[in-house]
Amino acid sequence: MSTPQAKLFIDHKEIPLSVYSGTQDDRAIDITKLYDEHHIMTYDPSLGNTAICRSEITYIDGGKGILRYRGIPLEQFDRPTPNFIEVAWMLIFGRLPNKTELDEFRSLLSEHELLHEGLRNQFQVLPAKAPPMAILSAMISMMACYYEEFLTVVDDQSIAEASARLISKVRTIAAFTHRRSLGLPFIYPDPGMRYCANFLHMMFSIPYRQFTVEPEIEDALNLVLILHADHEQNCSTSAVRVVGSAQANLFASCSAGVSALWGPLHGGANVKVMEMLESIYRGGRKPEDCIEAAKDKTNPFRLFGFGHRVYKNYDPRAKILKKACDRVFAKLKTQDPLLNIARELEERALADDYFVERKLYPNVDFYSGILLRAMGIPTDMFTVMFAIGRLPGWIAQWKEAHENPGTRIIRPRQLYVGNPETRYVPIEER
Ligand code: CMC
Repeated sequence: MSTPQAKLFIDHKEIPLSVYSGTQDDRAIDITKLYDEHHIMTYDPSLGNTAICRSEITYIDGGKGILRYRGIPLEQFDRPTPNFIEVAWMLIFGRLPNKTELDEFRSLLSEHELLHEGLRNQFQVLPAKAPPMAILSAMISMMACYYEEFLTVVDDQSIAEASARLISKVRTIAAFTHRRSLGLPFIYPDPGMRYCANFLHMMFSIPYRQFTVEPEIEDALNLVLILHADHEQNCSTSAVRVVGSAQANLFASCSAGVSALWGPLHGGANVKVMEMLESIYRGGRKPEDCIEAAKDKTNPFRLFGFGHRVYKNYDPRAKILKKACDRVFAKLKTQDPLLNIARELEERALADDYFVERKLYPNVDFYSGILLRAMGIPTDMFTVMFAIGRLPGWIAQWKEAHENPGTRIIRPRQLYVGNPETRYVPIEER
């Protein structure tokens, strides 16, 4: 069967272009040879309408608010005891693991949960109050200095080994960052604990006083990490793919992902949401003022946690998180006034023409912070939590690109609009 074609008419010429279909309704016009053969570029400055790869990992239908990992709707992971490690393995290796595979991966994680002493000592030279995302990005990049055997990964076993080091150590790095910021001793990981419980232990235990991990909190953390685990070609994942396309190693590529995620329009939005909710709570501003400020085009303020490039409907992750907030507070028999403020903001925004016309709905960052706060995680660690969750997705996307023999270095073009040819003017003539 021949590939369906589109036709581009330009300068009285007709150019046939192949059209590819995904396994869902999406179609994409192949313009890869357009410049080489016809000297024409496509213009899509923020790549909002450009598929940069074919991928089998995650599917999003932004209009309908659908998100699936390896074909499984996200809602199916919202169960009593969700498991982040299982999802991580599935994203990386393409299918749900059987019990042996999962146990082996868990053992690898336990084996590699400590930091190399050289890496641990780096904390002493960094300022205690350094931004946690700067520390995380630097530490992941520095892992390349200590695990040189993984600068080239050749097969599934070495990917599993490298992934286990990354996924396990990132949690230790995050907890140590928090401890150091408070001047508290590092608490070493406990190999007998599950992934999320172990993280909470490293964050909150103190010598001779073991932190008790409530099962509700452990489950909520598992869920938060699962909901962040992949989101196809978002800004940080694209950064990972761009860096990886130069055949840069997994550590360098994931470190780039952390840097991109830090931005307030991306993962950093969860911190901004919390700052906004807290300022409303403390009486610094009113919910209606936030809505008005977000609508005012002369004001750079945005309603953080609202809007999305792809979702023109309720972000399914936000829906699950909102429900999880209610569930966790009910189980813990506590409340958080910030949850009511968030609900009020949402209600106002969804009834306002500005947000309705632009199809701006709560995104993943709107309710995640409230859950993280319920776990005792401080605001400056929120984006780090997003990074821990997103790491399996970055690894899976890097692996998919790395294994595809058709992957070329990602190198976009530009439409030059600067000076035409001019001449160098010596300084004394200027
Ligand atoms: N508050 C007020 N106005 C907004 C918002 C918002 N949060 N989001 C979008 N708009 C407006 C925007 O000003 C524009 O208006 P107009 O058409 O009048 O110029 C219109 O809606 C379309 O927005 P856009 O900026 O063209 O949309 P985008 O796809 O380039 O940006 C976004 C997407 C997520 C960066 C943006 O919605 C935003 O800045 N949201 C707040 C930050 C945030 O919550 N980020 C987390 C995103 S989800 C998780 C993640 O990826 O990390």
